[in-house]
Amino acid sequence: MERSLVLLKPDTVQRGLIGELVSRLEDKGLKIAGMKMMKVGEELAKEHYEEHLEKDFFSDLFNFITSSPIVAMVVEGEQAVSVIRGLMGATNPFEARPGTIRGDYGLDLTKNLIHGSDSTESAKREIDLFFDEKEILDYELTSEKWR
Ligand code: RTP
Ligand code: MG
Repeated sequence: MERSLVLLKPDTVQRGLIGELVSRLEDKGLKIAGMKMMKVGEELAKEHYEEHLEKDFFSDLFNFITSSPIVAMVVEGEQAVSVIRGLMGATNPFEARPGTIRGDYGLDLTKNLIHGSDSTESAKREIDLFFDEKEILDYELTSEKWR
């Protein structure tokens, strides 16, 4: 089954939207295989967003992601990477369509609620950064056969 790293960013935690966003993933039929609350440190932030290190928005992104706790998740499902990107909506909440997470909850390019891996290669790299293999659980949902 395909896996994606999902981060519920500091704004989601501060606004009390953890439950809402987890529900969106669960309602779609995705499976949570790992989940923890944590603070993203300097090193981890730079590794996770290494592709953006040289961009002019990096300091905004870095300050935001390290500002307050996040919820990190390993989410599994068929085509999980693209399915989750679809649920998230466009990066810029002003462009994200209603019905998507960023379309329904956001009005700020930095505070855009959620991260999802953008490819299966990124997913592998990012899951390794955030999770030990023993924190990822292999189990069956009884509901799986009904999907
Ligand atoms: P993420 O990595 O956080 O899931 O977001 P994403 O794939 O949709 O967007 P990405 O291009 O990876 O950018 C990472 C985060 O940087 C901020 N950003 N600011 N000022 C700008 O032009 C700009 N572009 C991107 C966004 O907060 C985005 O989530
Ligand atoms: Mg990205």
